[in-house]
Amino acid sequence: MTQDELKKAVGFAALKFVKPQTIVGVGTGSTAAHFIDALATIKHDIIGAVSSSEASTAKLKSYGITIFDCNDVDSLDIYVDGADEINHQMHMIKGGGAALTREKIISAISKQFICIVDESKVVNTLGKFPLPIEVIPMARSYVARELFKLGGKPIYRQGVITDNGNVILDIHDLTITDPIELENKINSIAGVVTVGLFANRGANIALVGTANGVKEII
Ligand code: 5RP
Repeated sequence: MTQDELKKAVGFAALKFVKPQTIVGVGTGSTAAHFIDALATIKHDIIGAVSSSEASTAKLKSYGITIFDCNDVDSLDIYVDGADEINHQMHMIKGGGAALTREKIISAISKQFICIVDESKVVNTLGKFPLPIEVIPMARSYVARELFKLGGKPIYRQGVITDNGNVILDIHDLTITDPIELENKINSIAGVVTVGLFANRGANIALVGTANGVKEII
């Protein structure tokens, strides 16, 4: 199976966690896009979705799925999204698609984070995938200098402006041995909006697409 077929398999496998007549939290990226295709097949059984990006909103709307503002929803049963890396403690690196801030907000109001990934995303130690950080534009250089002190190599993601009007620094060459500590440290740098480490609030369930089928990890 190709990587995209594995992504499609987990996107459709996540449907079983969607409860009828609920609002569903929806992530961003190519795997989440397959989940949206799956969600469209049961669109008359759900109330709608809270979306983590303009791209996912456009796709959801194209299927006629109602979009709710996050401020109008107290909590969600599930948030379904992909990841760039996930370790065995269910900590993740996210933000390859630059939607990390809205993804983190929606995951914070969701009872369960269902992570959908192909098996190439499962790692023992996070950090091979450059860690994305969303930064207020005027703080870019300062934050980059602070990140350098943490032992990483921050690279400005040229030409990318997030849905919130900010920029992205990707930190290369990190070996993340304590994801919670690093998430807290980076969050405390002035000018950082969001770090793409999802460790304080990791996934509850991972659906991993493998050549032998979809594996469910709890
Ligand atoms: C977007 C994300 C995505 O979930 C992550 O980049 C994985 O993307 P894909 O499903 O395309 O491999 O965090 O900000």
